[in-house]
Amino acid sequence: QTKRLEDRFGRVATDLRVSLTDRCNLRCSYCMPAEGLDWLPDETVLTDDEVVRLVRIGVELLGVREVRFTGGEPLVRRGLVDIVRQTSALGVETSLTTNALGLARTAHALAAAGLDRVNVSLDSIRRESFKQITRRDRLPDVLAGLAAAREAGLGPVKVNAVLMRGINDAEAPELLRWAIAEGYHLRFIEQMPLDAQHGWSREGMVTADEIFARLEAEFTLTPAAEPRGSAPAELFVVDGGPATVGVIASVTRPFCGDCDRVRLTADGQVRNCLFAREESDLRAAMRAGASDEEVADRWVTAMAGKRAGHGIDDPTFLQPDRPMSAIGG
Ligand code: GTP
Ligand code: 5AD
Ligand code: SF4
Repeated sequence: QTKRLEDRFGRVATDLRVSLTDRCNLRCSYCMPAEGLDWLPDETVLTDDEVVRLVRIGVELLGVREVRFTGGEPLVRRGLVDIVRQTSALGVETSLTTNALGLARTAHALAAAGLDRVNVSLDSIRRESFKQITRRDRLPDVLAGLAAAREAGLGPVKVNAVLMRGINDAEAPELLRWAIAEGYHLRFIEQMPLDAQHGWSREGMVTADEIFARLEAEFTLTPAAEPRGSAPAELFVVDGGPATVGVIASVTRPFCGDCDRVRLTADGQVRNCLFAREESDLRAAMRAGASDEEVADRWVTAMAGKRAGHGIDDPTFLQPDRPMSAIGG
């Protein structure tokens, strides 16, 4: 490795997050409208070979050490198991962020292909709330997918929950009790202005402080001793341990100063931040015949424009054009 993905603030990206599709089989209300979105045209989506080539360039030429596949919903991508096999063969940690629909069927194949871990998005364990939030009555499938992941050794399995006021925020303690009993690592996430409908508001989102208040009504939380590094989640020990709970407070306690992430969209654009305003087209470069070195150089250049932080609190903040579902979580 001769180059690295360094920005002008000295942050070096070693954690690559690759969106494999912008499509999803759920319709979470904080993410997209009931009718779905205008999906990317097929010919703009990277082929399996193109995905693997970019990951290889990241790993071999640019110092990428961890690869996470995201979506949309990555399990709906047909070539997923093959992509995972080729990626894990590069010797990097490989993980998946998924809603777990269909995971019961594929967990063992994914583990056999070398997948290390999964993080599962699940905002409620009540069938009615789940259906209200995701607009699909699929809670049993998700729970089966989670159990399959645990059995396949895709752990530690993390569960990501977004809380919405008046919808599932009161369920926070119940979710935590369930996750502890099942052996999943629960993290609560502050909602970010990345929804397709542009309905996010600072007043509407459930803050980390509110999450703590809900949890502390029933549990004692103490900050975990282990260093956080560049992880988005702050960890807390629950009732003296060993269980922990994470809080990802992107909005009220941003962690951009320690960011080590870079993203590739399903259509082959580098995004140096979730909130980036510009992208760099590696798909066009590859399809025009660029060499690995040329693609790598273009990627390095794309990092220079990474801004210091997401700027959600700036009066001039503009929500990015691409919603979360088309960037990857
Ligand atoms: P681990 O490596 O298992 O800790 O995964 P992770 O937490 O990095 O990844 P995951 O895909 O599970 O992301 C969980 C949530 O963290 C996402 O839904 C986002 O809300 C948030 N998140 C992940 N990456 C970033 C990031 O770069 N910036 C911000 N602001 N939030 C992020
Ligand atoms: N803010 C924070 N997290 C979000 N997710 C989806 N949309 C948002 C948002 N606007 C979460 C999902 C999933 C992960 C991929 O991102 O719930 O856990
Ligand atoms: Fe990194 Fe951007 Fe996320 Fe901040 S908002 S942690 S800079 S990706």
